[in-house]
Amino acid sequence: MIEAVGITKRFPGLIANDRISFAVRPGEIHAIVGENGAGKSTLMKILAGLYEPDEGEIRLRGQPVRLRGPRHAAQLGIGMVHQHFMLIPRFTVTENVVLGSEPGSAARLDLVAARARVRELAQRYHLDIDPDAPVARLSVGQQQRVEILKVLYRGAEVLILDEPTAVLVPQEVEELFHHLRELRKQGKTVLFISHKLDEVLAIADRITVLRRGRVVGTLEAREATKPRLAEMMVGRPVLFDLEKPPAGDAAEGGPLLELADVTCREGTRTVLERVSLSVRPGEIYAIAGVEGNGQAELVQVITGLRVPDEGHIRLLGADATRWSVERRRAAGMAVIHEDRHRQALVLPMSIWENALLGRHRHRRWRRGPFFRPATIRSHVAREVARYDVRTPSLDVPVASLSGGNQQKLVLARELSQAPRIIVAAQPTRGLDVGAIEFVWGQLLEARARGLGVLLISADLEEILALADRIGVIARGRLVGELARSEATAEVLGRMMLAGGEAS
Ligand SMILES: Nc1ncnc2c1ncn2[C@@H]1O[C@H](COP(=O)(O)OP(=O)(O)OP(=O)(O)O)[C@@H](O)[C@H]1O
Ligand SMILES: [Mg+2]
Repeated sequence: MIEAVGITKRFPGLIANDRISFAVRPGEIHAIVGENGAGKSTLMKILAGLYEPDEGEIRLRGQPVRLRGPRHAAQLGIGMVHQHFMLIPRFTVTENVVLGSEPGSAARLDLVAARARVRELAQRYHLDIDPDAPVARLSVGQQQRVEILKVLYRGAEVLILDEPTAVLVPQEVEELFHHLRELRKQGKTVLFISHKLDEVLAIADRITVLRRGRVVGTLEAREATKPRLAEMMVGRPVLFDLEKPPAGDAAEGGPLLELADVTCREGTRTVLERVSLSVRPGEIYAIAGVEGNGQAELVQVITGLRVPDEGHIRLLGADATRWSVERRRAAGMAVIHEDRHRQALVLPMSIWENALLGRHRHRRWRRGPFFRPATIRSHVAREVARYDVRTPSLDVPVASLSGGNQQKLVLARELSQAPRIIVAAQPTRGLDVGAIEFVWGQLLEARARGLGVLLISADLEEILALADRIGVIARGRLVGELARSEATAEVLGRMMLAGGEAS
């Protein structure tokens, strides 16, 4: 159906795609896997007409094509579903789907006809969605369906999805897969990227593995196993079960972080209701829950981005309820924000500048009013190497790093400043298996050294691998607290859902 033949794409200082050749059969679900920075997104952008390759050719149904841009690709039946949704919240589903697809003056289009067509498409592909609903009111999973509809509306035969499951909760992933199978049944071809090998094995017909810009191979999914894929990706065997060292001296000293009856309101809605918890030295306390149940607000009050309406926060024994972000940092709190684009990184700035964010005033980096560039650069270079942030230099803008490498940079910065307590929200989202192994190892090591970790994760596997204690959050309330020994995925899942219904 669609084929890459010897595709090469260079960026200043590196080759993102190096003579890539692979073929996608009509009507198959084809997964692309590979480490962070392997060149997956670049390749998909080339196939969707967003980048032009430096060398090589794309064939569509056997015919060489030169894509002149995403619009041209869409005309030829290739559509990309973007990871960062490009929807306008105030508009309805129909308006969003139609937006931009009608050229010129035809933009004053026939909304009635469009609406009927959207409804028809949604029905045909069993994408359960109301054409008249404003997008602002949709869940993340539903917004993704709108993006898929948008691509189908433009007549896509080949759908490209870059990490579509990264933003979804498990039930939504199931629903998405259901939709993808439906699309396949009706003859569409699907290309998608994921770091979650279990998902890939569950949904793909064939899998192409990239490593450092090159194709390692294409496998039939039924011949593939998780360890085999991981080894092809990384070039060495990957351990999936890491050993959890015994906890540090947990009893020593008081809690590092305490929340007492913290309540937050937004208008008339209570987004956090009397949340109390404590994180002790040498323990990982995990918050489990379906996303959107107060986790974001919880991180905001803990890190100082928001003042609670009621209740108190104590940091290392002191009342920190009204402390600024900077003061909490100075006291030893490191934060891994979930939304790295909005809260953790300044995309147009260079790697070394980003590595210094939030602690640029530190004595170590300055001599009087001046920065000490050599000291800074050697420090940043060391961290970048340790965290395996793949980049041609420290001077490139962070925007040019792959998603996973941006995340690794945030982790390197936050964990390298000798914190006492780490607040980690979705720390491994978007990371490849090797990087997850490394980050989990870092968090466990921090715990062994007596640090406290508050882990907020939508990934139950991650929670079960790391946590000593687990609090379950639903509708802004902690509906239960378990020791690791009492927790299983089933128990947690039940509590997450039951707690949501109860109120
Ligand atoms: N616009 C750009 N300018 C410069 N370099 C870029 C640009 N886009 C990507 N790169 C580089 O190309 C390489 C491949 O990036 P790409 O985004 O394709 O990786 P990826 O496989 O999608 O990784 P991830 O799993 O982290 O998303 C990376 O080293 C990245 O830094
Ligand atoms: Mg990518």
